Amino acid sequence: MAFPMSLDARAGAAASLLAWYDRHRRDLPWRALPGEPADPYKVWLSEIMLQQTTVAAVKPYFLGFLARWPNVGLLAQAGGEEVMRAWAGLGYYSRARNLHACAKIVAGPLKGKFPDTEAGLRCLPGIGPYTAAAIAAIAFGRPAAAIDGNAERVLARLYSIGTPLPAARSEIKTKAAAMVPPQRPGDFAQAMMDLGAMICAPKHPCCGICPLLEFCRGQASGCPESLPRKAPRRERPLRQGAAFFLRRQDGAVLVRTRPPERLLGGMTELPGTAWVIHFDAASAASQAPVEASYRKLDKSVSHAFTHFALRLDIYVADVPSKRRAPTGYRFVPECGLDKEAFPSVMRKIIEAVRLSPGFDKCAAKGF
Ligand code: ADE
Repeated sequence: MAFPMSLDARAGAAASLLAWYDRHRRDLPWRALPGEPADPYKVWLSEIMLQQTTVAAVKPYFLGFLARWPNVGLLAQAGGEEVMRAWAGLGYYSRARNLHACAKIVAGPLKGKFPDTEAGLRCLPGIGPYTAAAIAAIAFGRPAAAIDGNAERVLARLYSIGTPLPAARSEIKTKAAAMVPPQRPGDFAQAMMDLGAMICAPKHPCCGICPLLEFCRGQASGCPESLPRKAPRRERPLRQGAAFFLRRQDGAVLVRTRPPERLLGGMTELPGTAWVIHFDAASAASQAPVEASYRKLDKSVSHAFTHFALRLDIYVADVPSKRRAPTGYRFVPECGLDKEAFPSVMRKIIEAVRLSPGFDKCAAKGF
């Protein structure tokens, strides 16, 4: 049960937060300067990128996309592969596919204009409740409550909400909605995010300099760090498999494009076995799409996806330059590998191969 807060206290807390934001706001490349109108394209692009991803990781990608596609019309005209390549490394690749699909709708049927309401925004691909609220508030000044992980922590502490996440989310959203100042909803949303990132940190919050100190029930309770409570996380199951790094004598490497739907859809991958719970390591090499003399690297590669952890054994083989790619695969020249839309797990494998002892020496010769 959360503590109630009077209308006056809510207005006082919002005013104090906004005054703090005016002095201490983060300078982020997608933000309009004070007094300037927000650019819906920048707000939308940044909010899609910031889904489950940190500000630090997003910054270079945001700047890269903006330099290459300065408006939604140009992004809509880009090739799907090109967009996937530019997104490679940022993770959660369905976002890139949805981003491109959304750009085409906005640039086409919507004549270049993003919808300016939460409901309208939610009809677009890749825009869920949080993102719709964030764009509506930041780009269009709608009184929407946009609560990212940082804001969630601030509100759970401010109201001393003891219900564990994720069950506490609807209560947090109600509290936030009741606080949004009608004149500055976008600044309020971003102020909450900044406060969570800079002051109301998960560990060791700087309560002494917090603009919400006098209103904060969590701080008054003596243990703000314990909030928000979290339901115990279920262990991620471990899936295992093998990846095959097959290199021709001319340096070309065998790859394929994953099917468009599902995990890592449309991204490039090295050939590999299925990723399964019960993995038969002994038979892995026999599942390679090309017969060759494979050697297994001593090191495997691990990667955490949202719903499972993955460990992949790596097999390397060299084949003659005349070897053709089997159906569904292609050979990519080694110098072109960095331009492929490899997700992080594939980049880790390539890096492990490149760093493996005697990698260059094992290049096929004399075929
Ligand atoms: N996280 C999600 N949206 C954000 C924004 N607009 N600014 C900073 N962090 C964010």
